[in-house]
Amino acid sequence: MTDVVLDCDPGHDDVFAMLLAAAHPAVRLRAITTVAGNGPLGQVTRNALRICALAGIDVPVAAGLSQRGTGNAPSIHGESALDGADLPEPADVPADEDAVSLTERLLDEGPLTIIATGPLTNVAALLRRRPDLRPSIVFMGGSCGRGNWRPLAEFNVWADPEAADVVLTSGLPVTMCGLDVTHQATATPDVFDRLREMATPLAGTLADLLRFFASTYDEVFGMPDPPVHDPVAVAAVAEPGLLTMVDAPVAVELTGTHTRGATVVDLHGVTGKPANARIAVGLDRVRFWDVLLSAVERLGR
Ligand code: BDR
Ligand code: CA
Repeated sequence: MTDVVLDCDPGHDDVFAMLLAAAHPAVRLRAITTVAGNGPLGQVTRNALRICALAGIDVPVAAGLSQRGTGNAPSIHGESALDGADLPEPADVPADEDAVSLTERLLDEGPLTIIATGPLTNVAALLRRRPDLRPSIVFMGGSCGRGNWRPLAEFNVWADPEAADVVLTSGLPVTMCGLDVTHQATATPDVFDRLREMATPLAGTLADLLRFFASTYDEVFGMPDPPVHDPVAVAAVAEPGLLTMVDAPVAVELTGTHTRGATVVDLHGVTGKPANARIAVGLDRVRFWDVLLSAVERLGR
């Protein structure tokens, strides 16, 4: 059993990360923390609380930091950052502690894995404040090749490249689940069929959310089967056997004229640098969806 804090910016695919982290038997979800990304901080925190109310997730939700003016992602997630479904009002309020302080306190209590599915702003703030702490960090972000928000930059890294750089140069155990692997986690029509067969209100709401996500992914990227990125990072902790990993050196482009926010992954060792991250490159897609949909079933509702 791994103790986990999920740092997220819900966001349609973040919802699936929340559900998997809350319901997978190998994960003890200690808290959900939020960071500005897909929407501004207040909005994604409210979204996290609404999903907790919907799915009966009973852990503290703590708000973290706003990012530094790089903007949000309404073209993908809508104006609320979670458009497309009727969601309940939050049943709870955010924790008194902020995200960074709460994660720091949990790390002082014992080992912890931080799964980050938004920009790495909170995680970098924690590492800057307490370089003595030794969390494992698994993040959704980056890519070995092309980007999505910029030609070579993926959204979460592009939104705060300096934070990603802090994480990747920390010397901590870091796993990167980038677009290479998350673009294998597509929501194909059979996923919608299985949600329909579940016939629960939760499954119905998830199908509504996925339908919205599929429509924007189709419009923006011409991908009608959208990649459900964020739960892949949770799967890397809960079911590591589902992923193929390679160790490699990764640098974040901080100054490129056209490439700021790109993750430069040396898959062939041409730089001679030591590996600083484990990179997920392959996914057992069929088992991934089995695991994710089982978690949804386990939540009932
Ligand atoms: C990442 O960007 C966000 O829009 C998604 O929630 C995911 O974390 C994919 O690039
Ligand atoms: Ca996200």
